[in-house]
Amino acid sequence: MPSPAFPGMFLALAAAILLLFASVSPPVWERVSFLNVDTPAGTTVYGVFGQCLKAATKTCSTRSIGYDLQAAGLSSGVQMNQTLLHNLSKTLILHPIAGFLSFLAFVMGVIGVAAASRGATVMMAIFSFLGAMAGLVAFVIDMVLWNVLKNRVVEAGYHASLGIANWFTVAGVAAMILAMCASFFGACGRFATGRAAGEKY
Ligand SMILES: *[C@@H]1O[C@H](CO)[C@@H](O)[C@H](O)[C@H]1NC(C)=O
Repeated sequence: MPSPAFPGMFLALAAAILLLFASVSPPVWERVSFLNVDTPAGTTVYGVFGQCLKAATKTCSTRSIGYDLQAAGLSSGVQMNQTLLHNLSKTLILHPIAGFLSFLAFVMGVIGVAAASRGATVMMAIFSFLGAMAGLVAFVIDMVLWNVLKNRVVEAGYHASLGIANWFTVAGVAAMILAMCASFFGACGRFATGRAAGEKY
């Protein structure tokens, strides 16, 4: 019988990797973006810590928590960087926070499996819960922020689409919720003790 900590550990690792992908978005990795806006100036791609304009050459904003949301090349009436939306962009930091909590849950799961430890599995359940909550809030804000921005530019006659980072986030949150359930049940499961801990039976 595998350790009761095993399923939660595996799911927490999957969640941590998915949320890492979402976090390493523009301006570092333009392929994994939350929003893409096409204007005559080029395509602007949005990430957790900044945006990049992809034209003949690529120009990216500096990395910061909360950044200028205005896409280049929009006609002067189209305002994307309103104060409320700009402030919402600061909460994108929740993606790496959720990813880090998932990673901590994974580490606790490794200890739970390796040491057949119920205490570590309880810690995994707690970190999974916190990671799932942070990820859920991040996803709800994503859906609001990116859809508001998308609709605003589409209404002005430009093309915009949501990017794959949103789906990495939702998959990460789903994995984290499953990890939370698995580790709660795991924490109640039967832990081998002593020499039996490493044995298969
Ligand atoms: C974007 O909006 C914020 C908040 O209103 C403001 O502080 C910032 O200067 C704006 N950025 C640009 C480039 O206009």
